[in-house]
Amino acid sequence: MRKTVEDLLARLKAAEAAYHERDAPEISDAEYDALRRQAEAILAEHPQWQDLAEQLARVGARPAAGFQKLRHRTPMLSLDNVFAPEEFSEFADRIRRFLGLAATPLSFVAEPKIDGLSISLAYEKRRFTRAATRGDGTVGEDVTANILTLPSLPRILPDDAPDFIEIRGEVYMTKADFLALNESQERQFANPRNAAAGSLRQLDSRITARRKLSLFAYAQGETAHPVAETHWDYLATLHRWGFEVNPLSQRVREDEAAQFQAGIAARRASLPYDIDGVVYKVDDLTLQARLGFVGRAPRWACAWKFPAEKAFTRLEDIEIQVGRTGALTPRAKLTPVNVGGVLVQYATLHNEDEIARKDVRIGDIVELQRAGDVIPQILGVRERGADAVPYQFPDHCPACGALAVRVDDDVVRRCTGGLSCPAQLVERLIHFCSRGAFDIEGMGEKTAREFYAAGWLQSAPDIFALPAREAEIAKREGWGEVSAAKLSAAINAKRTIGLARFIYALGIRRIGENNAKLLARHYGSYPNWKASMQAATIIGSDARLELGSISGIGPAIAGDLAAFFAEAHNLATLTALEHEVRVEDETIAATIQSPFVGKVVVFTGTLAMARPEAKAKAESLGAKVTESVSKKTDFVVVGADAGSKAKKAAELGIHILSEAEFREMAGL
Ligand code: IVH
Repeated sequence: MRKTVEDLLARLKAAEAAYHERDAPEISDAEYDALRRQAEAILAEHPQWQDLAEQLARVGARPAAGFQKLRHRTPMLSLDNVFAPEEFSEFADRIRRFLGLAATPLSFVAEPKIDGLSISLAYEKRRFTRAATRGDGTVGEDVTANILTLPSLPRILPDDAPDFIEIRGEVYMTKADFLALNESQERQFANPRNAAAGSLRQLDSRITARRKLSLFAYAQGETAHPVAETHWDYLATLHRWGFEVNPLSQRVREDEAAQFQAGIAARRASLPYDIDGVVYKVDDLTLQARLGFVGRAPRWACAWKFPAEKAFTRLEDIEIQVGRTGALTPRAKLTPVNVGGVLVQYATLHNEDEIARKDVRIGDIVELQRAGDVIPQILGVRERGADAVPYQFPDHCPACGALAVRVDDDVVRRCTGGLSCPAQLVERLIHFCSRGAFDIEGMGEKTAREFYAAGWLQSAPDIFALPAREAEIAKREGWGEVSAAKLSAAINAKRTIGLARFIYALGIRRIGENNAKLLARHYGSYPNWKASMQAATIIGSDARLELGSISGIGPAIAGDLAAFFAEAHNLATLTALEHEVRVEDETIAATIQSPFVGKVVVFTGTLAMARPEAKAKAESLGAKVTESVSKKTDFVVVGADAGSKAKKAAELGIHILSEAEFREMAGL
């Protein structure tokens, strides 16, 4: 039976390649669907073959090569989650602290969080022109033709709409339309969200037209001029313009949120569409603008998710995964169980201490919880397995056999194998090619592992030697001339990269996308960054102090960077990469005009404006904010009761600004 599914998968993949890559279908749509249904039917009987189910989900799920990419004028963001009243209060407190507001309750708009996919709709001269999916938040896919099949889409806006406006919302499928689609046997989906995504990302918009999709508008993108002063009025405007706006949305005061949350939770099952929580957005749009964003999420909104779904199942095994920094992470392998509509087979166990604290043993019946799209968690033991013995966390790396140790008070045990550990190496390669890094299409986990096993990838620079092996790759099983050529093209297309992405791609410990951006902005160019990091390997050096004083970096992360640059093999990797790629400077100056572009700013003393807002404002104007004053500091903004930093600034002859002067220069 398993073999049958594998064969079906191979045929589906071949059909898919013929259709999408060569644009030369080999079988009809009906035959394709029949193969797919056959595989789905067998898999429904064998839930243990999760790996095959995942492969099947991927076949046809990809947008294929067919969609044009569209760059969003303002990024499409995600939301931070909260799960409990205390977390919501913390969210509100953070906002108050950022803005320096007194303990007055904030006013929010609460909207059901629709489980669909977000869409950006552009209108030029009041005519609908373009629709893009979220994609990675910066670049999405052009689905204009498909969106035009939605009956509820306003094609023309009234005269009071701006010359250009981008309206954002959620495309979703109602529960009824989802059930009807699944019954029609045209195509089966696991849930309405997948059905909406699968239906929207069709190369043939006639298929989208047959599927019933709905739309709620709920957010702003770029606009030629503001159309409202509050989010509530914005929604009213959208409604007047002909958009469907969720009728359950309400204006709520901070202290009414919990009550609203409970009310929506009670109605959840009877709503005609799936929701997974409530989104709370600061109502005042001026405050929203002041709050801005951190990373990929706005400071002014959060998603309060419904409580997690729980279930019981048997812990079959504890597997240890080795990450790119050598961290040994335990993963629970479970007897597959349905938790709130999703089949769960793996859950996180976090780390060694967590297993010991919960005393989870192989063979136990455990309680499991799944909340939203977060990785399922094990809550604890429900029933002790017969003969279950306490779990012994390995003190050697399961991948390379090197000693695995815990340093200082780190909860994580790490493999000491370094470069000789194959698991770390492969994970680093996967990271290097991933979305936020080099984003090489087609170089996913599977391909990275395959070429590593073939002996072609010892380190990241080897990726750029793959195009020279194109003929060899084409001959491999599962490959062909078309897919090998596509891979070469995808690799060659990424030989130019921005500094922030490049830094992130290196996979240095604790240098995620945000920190990589901070570094890129601070150092501006690759040569400057590299030279500064090499100098910073010396403790106490000016370069090290500068690094540690970058706001958001700090001494601990500075230590990680220094450790990376102290290793000769890392420098060798950088040199090899320099021959393969061109790293572009971080250009803030090109887009922003302000007296702070590229300047190093320090805030000290008590400001009337809250410190976080002042810092965020300066950064948004191109400044690099650091915590300590040095020769490199350009401006010191001095508030009341300023102490040693103001004194040092005066000694060094640094330009000192009062808060009022800062506000004026910042255009506030
Ligand atoms: S606001 C910056 N409002 O949730 C504003 N999002 O977890 C971001 N979503 O990508 C979006 N209902 O796809 C917003 N009423 C609502 C929403 C909503 C569903 C989705 C949206 C977004 C995701 C973030």
